[in-house]
Amino acid sequence: MEQAFGKVILLGEHAVVYGRPAIAAALPRGATARAEAEPAGPLLAVPAWGALVGPADSSDLGRAFSAVLGWLGAGEARCRVVAQPSIPAGGGLGCSAAVGVAVARALGAFLGRPLDVGEASAAGLAWERVIHGNPSGIDNAVAAGGGVGVYRRGQPLRQISLGLTVGLAIGDTGTRGSTRAMVESVARQRERRPEAVEKLLDAIGALVESGVAALERGHLRVLGQHLDLNQALLASLLVSTAEIEELCAIARGAGAFGAKLTGGGGGGSVIAVAERPNEIVQAWSSQGYAGFAVELGCQ
Ligand code: PMV
Repeated sequence: MEQAFGKVILLGEHAVVYGRPAIAAALPRGATARAEAEPAGPLLAVPAWGALVGPADSSDLGRAFSAVLGWLGAGEARCRVVAQPSIPAGGGLGCSAAVGVAVARALGAFLGRPLDVGEASAAGLAWERVIHGNPSGIDNAVAAGGGVGVYRRGQPLRQISLGLTVGLAIGDTGTRGSTRAMVESVARQRERRPEAVEKLLDAIGALVESGVAALERGHLRVLGQHLDLNQALLASLLVSTAEIEELCAIARGAGAFGAKLTGGGGGGSVIAVAERPNEIVQAWSSQGYAGFAVELGCQ
């Protein structure tokens, strides 16, 4: 069984599409995939999505599968890949990249050519280009490599050593966002008012730079303030929603050092940095929102 990680973006989504840095952390869950012999292959099944496609299928999934097969030169592989995501699609947790990387690894293993991290990430990027249109590459880099790191478009993930364990609560707004739609919306705003949007992107980039220092020194309170500021800037880019703001407010009210959306926005997930993340998850739960806690730095 081949695996790939889901991820949260601690700071920097959207700006990372335009060359600014972002900090991402792998989640202990993501996706798994395995490939078995199938004379009618290549085929891809994702039972959780009720999907069974071949590379000639015109759906996004079929075209993404075809892109990965093309990257691997495996268009004739007589196999069926079965992929299982363990995070929600459209939840801002990098589900599609995790599935893409797991599928690429399963194909590589089937062909007797196991992929290294760089290859798995590159094959995942081919997949993401179909699903997301203009991906920065952060999701596939973390899906393949894991850990916590700083990412810049076109460069490998640079791992950070954390100053201490970071407690993170991850809450689900219950609404699904389309990363492609959100990335396109920011692109349209950038065309319409380039100066204002470039300033917002620069401000996010600057937050990421000082956020790295906070993480390395283990200053959770300072990191939390960075999350709050980043959330305000993301709201200015119109990728926040009423539910996202509500989850952030609940988290702050329950003692979080800071909270923000994570991933594409427009729905999906919220993250909160807290000393006791389980208390944030409980506060969300008492208001009808699902969530879970993770500890970064000890996966
Ligand atoms: O929604 P997700 O989990 O795919 O995260 C997208 C992150 C963006 O910065 C909005 C897009 C990207 O490709 O970096």
